Amino acid sequence: MCGIIGVTGTGPAVPRLIDSLKRLEYRGYDSAGVAALVDGKIERRRAKGKIRELEAVLAAEPLDATIGIGHTRWATHGAPTTANAHPHKAGRVTLVHNGIIENFAELKAELVAEGHAFESQTDTEVVAHLLDSQLGKINDPLVAFKTVLDRLTGAYALAVLIEGEDGLILGARRGSPLVVGWGEGEMYLGSDALAVGPFTQKISYLEEGDFVAIDRSGARMFDASGAPADRPIVQVSASSALVEKGEHRHFMEKEIHEQPDSVQHTLSEYLDFVNGKAKPGEIDFATVERIQIVACGTAFYAGQIGRYAFERLAGLPCDVEIASEFRYRHPALTKGTLAVAVSQSGETADTLASLTWCKAQGLKTAALVNVHSSSMAREAGTLWPTHAGPEIGVASTKAFTAQVAALLALAVTAGVQRGRIDPATEGELVRALFEAPRLIAESMAMDGALKEVAHDLSKATDVLFLGRGAMFPLAMEGALKLKEISYIHAEGYAAGELKHGPIALIDEETPTIALAPLDDVFEKTASNLQEIAARGGPVIMIAPKTAPDPHGAGIRRVDAPDCHSLIAPLIYAIPVQLLAYYTAVQKGTDVDQPRNLAKSVTVE
Ligand code: F6R
Repeated sequence: MCGIIGVTGTGPAVPRLIDSLKRLEYRGYDSAGVAALVDGKIERRRAKGKIRELEAVLAAEPLDATIGIGHTRWATHGAPTTANAHPHKAGRVTLVHNGIIENFAELKAELVAEGHAFESQTDTEVVAHLLDSQLGKINDPLVAFKTVLDRLTGAYALAVLIEGEDGLILGARRGSPLVVGWGEGEMYLGSDALAVGPFTQKISYLEEGDFVAIDRSGARMFDASGAPADRPIVQVSASSALVEKGEHRHFMEKEIHEQPDSVQHTLSEYLDFVNGKAKPGEIDFATVERIQIVACGTAFYAGQIGRYAFERLAGLPCDVEIASEFRYRHPALTKGTLAVAVSQSGETADTLASLTWCKAQGLKTAALVNVHSSSMAREAGTLWPTHAGPEIGVASTKAFTAQVAALLALAVTAGVQRGRIDPATEGELVRALFEAPRLIAESMAMDGALKEVAHDLSKATDVLFLGRGAMFPLAMEGALKLKEISYIHAEGYAAGELKHGPIALIDEETPTIALAPLDDVFEKTASNLQEIAARGGPVIMIAPKTAPDPHGAGIRRVDAPDCHSLIAPLIYAIPVQLLAYYTAVQKGTDVDQPRNLAKSVTVE
């Protein structure tokens, strides 16, 4: 994941930028760069590869400055080249960015028509041009910056230098985190507390939609509406450990909030955002006759969501099985089967054994794993990485959505390669995936309503989760999350199965959580909810505002963002995780290390 640092003070800025960038190396990157204001002019140094390559460039052409910004880039739009490395520059403006500017193509077209010339393939560069253009019309840099932010669609964290504005760095966050660090006569911006950790432990966490101006003497912070905002200064631990909870109470909460980034980085492994295409990988799906996914727990539910996509988009038969059953069942698999192990750790004993067995049968194998040096990564013929970063909370969250994101993207590739998806549809599906990080960030706004629901759930002894289509495995994942960390008994069902048994459980004490995106089966789910309400069962329907109200007393609604049905499992995963999290917090359980559970199950 990309890293950001900004320093404005009186001492040499560039060694500080490099020190910070080294601390951000753990996030993964393929190019790095810095920009500094030298004698009133902004100069950049950038390099493909590691920080040491950037240091070599700086050794040859040093930058002597007291203000600068730096970035480690993990390529999403455009290859990892020096030209695509941040900072990006246009006129008086130079900036670094994490996230995705979804409407960059439309903004770029507009700017090109006005005569702006672009030098990179990135989405970021449009922001620099847009701000430079606004600065030509509006004198106040903060006002100009706000007009630019108002035009951006997507998820971002930004740090900006402007020629002629000595000592000033502007910053903004939406979807990607950004912190302000407070020093003595020196101020900092960073993508996390770790970025500013070498210089200060005094941090203000910017909130969603905030923007900020820092200079040597302090920071002026504003909320999304432009009103001054007061974000408290907190003292963070001096530890330089690679993983810390930051502004969050638990790792699980932190990891839930990291999902706009982790999903974006995972998607960019499989999709070419610049050209709106699915990237062909090592495996040609046209030669695959069947997919057999094996996994455990949460990864198994991710696999089931993948199955809906592979079959629907690519017409590719796909089976998904719990690894502990698969490995002892003597399954009959045909030669053209691609066996896929899905796992966060890549070490789960049953999944690894199933993969090894499939390989021994002479099948093609792939491992979709988050730990890229794990046993499964080494065992499988093909490595399909997820880029969720280290997951510390025992209950899996960001690793799950990274698995789902990768499987959805691979299903689009499969559909293209098997001639089921034409170029126009490919463009539409890639665009839909492209919107997921922003919509995930927007989904966090459901937290207020979900806390209220969690208050009631914490008193329940049984909870039902319902969904249809890809929402069915997500309902099972929701039930698993709730069981794991709040110790409340929960089950996930296909909504249509209700009448075949589970409806007998319905009473006034048993809440039902319904995952109901506005898709082709919404009406059917809605009528199942009426059946529950008619029997006195409390129903919480998570659905977009635009979805009609099911007629039934006692159906509470929680509004989710509107989204393309392909990405609904990614978007609806957020309320499901938050609900489990808030319920567990309400109950006071050990959220990050629930009883009896281990992060990686390397025994049977
Ligand atoms: C649930 C959870 C577990 C794991 C399962 C597989 O929150 O974390 O169900 O998903 O133990 O682990 P991995 O993905 O490492 O194979």
